Parts: sequence; C-alpha cells; structure tokens
Amino acid sequence: MNTGVKIFLFVLAILAFYSYVGQMVPQKITYPPETAELAADMTTEELAVAGAEIVAGKGTCLGCHTIGSSDASLRFPDLGNIGAVAGSRIDGMSEIEYLAESLYDPDSYIVDRFLPGMPAIGKPPIGLTDDEILAVMAYLQSLGGTSTVTLATTHSFTGQGASGSDGAGATPSGGAAVALGAGLDGPGVFAAFLCGTCHTIDKPDRLVGPSLFDVGSRLSKAEIYEAVMDPDATLAEGYPGGVMPATLGASGFFQKVSPEEIRALVDYLASHTGE
Ligand code: HEC
Ligand code: HEC
Repeated sequence: MNTGVKIFLFVLAILAFYSYVGQMVPQKITYPPETAELAADMTTEELAVAGAEIVAGKGTCLGCHTIGSSDASLRFPDLGNIGAVAGSRIDGMSEIEYLAESLYDPDSYIVDRFLPGMPAIGKPPIGLTDDEILAVMAYLQSLGGTSTVTLATTHSFTGQGASGSDGAGATPSGGAAVALGAGLDGPGVFAAFLCGTCHTIDKPDRLVGPSLFDVGSRLSKAEIYEAVMDPDATLAEGYPGGVMPATLGASGFFQKVSPEEIRALVDYLASHTGE
C-alpha cells in the first residue's frame, strides 16, 4: 500500500472510531445527573449525602483523592479526616472559609508536603455550581467532623461557581476553560484537559498515570489514539483502569475535542520518544 492510501485509511479509522467513541462514552460511564437535585430546604445531612455523590461523580475528586485510605497517594492529600483538620489549616481562617478556598482557589494555599495541581472545580471543565460546591463542603465536613453547611451558608467565594448546570456561563480562566472547536494544538489540548495532572511529559516520573515522555517509542500513533480515546481498552501494565476515562468524561473531553485537535495531540505525544 502506498503511503497516501495508508494515511487515508488511518484517518478514516480515526474518524469512525471517534464517532463510535462519541456515542459509546455516555452509555459506558454513568454519572449522577448533571446537576444534583438540590433543594433549598435540604438539611445539612441531606446536603452531605448529595455532596458525596458529587465527589464520586461529576466532581471527579476520586480521580485524584482517596478518602480514608491506608495507602493514600503521596501526590494527593487523603480527605478522610478533612472535616477535623480544615479549621486549623490556616491561622485565623474558619473551617468553612478554608474548604471554600481549597475548592474555588486551590492554588492560593498548598497543603504541606503536596504540590499544586488541583483544578478550580467551580470552573470548566469540572464546573460545579455554587450550590453543588456547598453540598461538597457539607460532605467534606462530615469526614472526621460535623456538617453545618446548608444552601443558605455564605462564604467569601459565593457567586464564583459555574452559573449553568454545564458550566457554560462561567468565566473562562487560564487553561481550564475549553471552548468547543477552540482549534488547540497538541500542547494546548494537553494543558486544557489537564492531562498533566496525571502524566509527566518531559521526565520519566510516574504520577497517577505512566510518564508519557517516551510514549512515542512504546506505542504507535494508532495505539496512542486508542489509549486516549478509549483508555480502558488496553491498560498500561500496573496502572488502574477507570480513572482516566472518568476524569476525561467528566471534563467533556470526548465531546469537546475535535478530530483535528486529537490528531495534533497524538502527533505531539508521538514526538516524545524519551530522547
Ligand atoms: C487532578 C487532581 C485533583 C482533583 C480532580 C481534585 N483535587 Fe483536591 N487536591 C489536589 C491536590 C494536588 C491537592 C494538594 C495541593 C493543594 O493544596 O492545592 C488538593 C487539595 C485538596 C484539599 C485540601 C486538603 C487538605 O488536607 O487541606 C481539598 C479539601 C480538596 N483537594 C478537595 C477536592 C474535592 C472535593 C475535589 C472534587 C470536587 C477535588 N479536590 C478534586 C488534586 C485534585
Ligand atoms: C485522572 C488521571 C488521568 C488523566 C486526567 C489523564 N490520564 Fe492518561 N492515563 C491515566 C492512567 C491511570 C493510565 C494508565 C491506565 C491506562 O492505560 O488507561 C493512563 C494512560 C494513558 C496513556 C497510555 C500510556 C501508556 O504508556 O500506555 C496515554 C497515551 C494517556 N494516558 C494520555 C492522556 C492524555 C493525552 C490525557 C489528557 C487528554 C490524559 N491521559 C489524562 C490517568 C489519567
């Protein structure tokens, strides 16, 4: 086969696979409703239950954090006791203010022994609404402490969450806001969808996922394509399934990324051969 024909077939395969994945993903991974049903008259206990669902679902928190695990990650703080420690993390800052800040503006305070890397969850791609964040806060309080937050609770960050259920009304900021058809290049896609929170690309260090600094020498472009668009089809040895597709699914990656952007991303990754 000549090269032109091969490229043509490769592109066809990619397009077919892309639309297949597009249809398959929502059925394969089931999330709680886009916006959890939160009613103004919910008790703090009911709110905490809704918050637990958001943490496990739309919030994608468990892609990084563990809750009360004995072998917690060295990179992401375990949240099993956050309700007990939140009030004493920053001198003079109340528990509620600290929890709000750690969710709305994670980089303003970095937990001792950890590195930055937590996305602001009130902004796209995660885009929780202010009410959803209150529910998450009620749940976090219950971990080692007592919930007090209700939907009437205010804090200095109120009004900064996504305004719509899909986060579309939120103010874009930094690399986290991804517009449909943004026409990103490979490094742009990598940054916008926070691939770097789980993968290094310029050094061999292992994070949640394998380092990608030599991925171009280990996988063909087609394999890289599959690893990105259908992550659980073939798992990198020694790494967990589920985490990457859940995180990318929740960020809207599979819906938002265009075929051109995917191609640019695959080329960018393939160029990293570890040399
Ligand atoms: C991509 C990985 C990632 C995701 C997703 C993520 N976090 Fe984090 N989180 C971090 C990192 C890294 C830190 C430590 C650095 C810092 O303090 O900002 C952190 C810190 C925190 C802290 C402060 C912990 C402490 O001990 O003081 C809280 C609370 C928290 N995250 C809650 C959440 C919740 C709730 C969600 C989901 C809505 C979430 N995180 C999603 C990476 C993540
Ligand atoms: C929440 C963490 C997380 C995020 C975010 C994430 N990945 Fe992954 N990734 C993983 C894990 C865990 C694996 C290993 C399991 C597997 O093969 O699916 C993996 C595997 C891969 C592989 C296969 C690597 C190999 O050596 O076989 C590639 C390529 C990859 N990811 C690219 C990406 C890209 C590109 C993005 C952003 C669009 C991304 N990942 C976002 C966790 C993540």
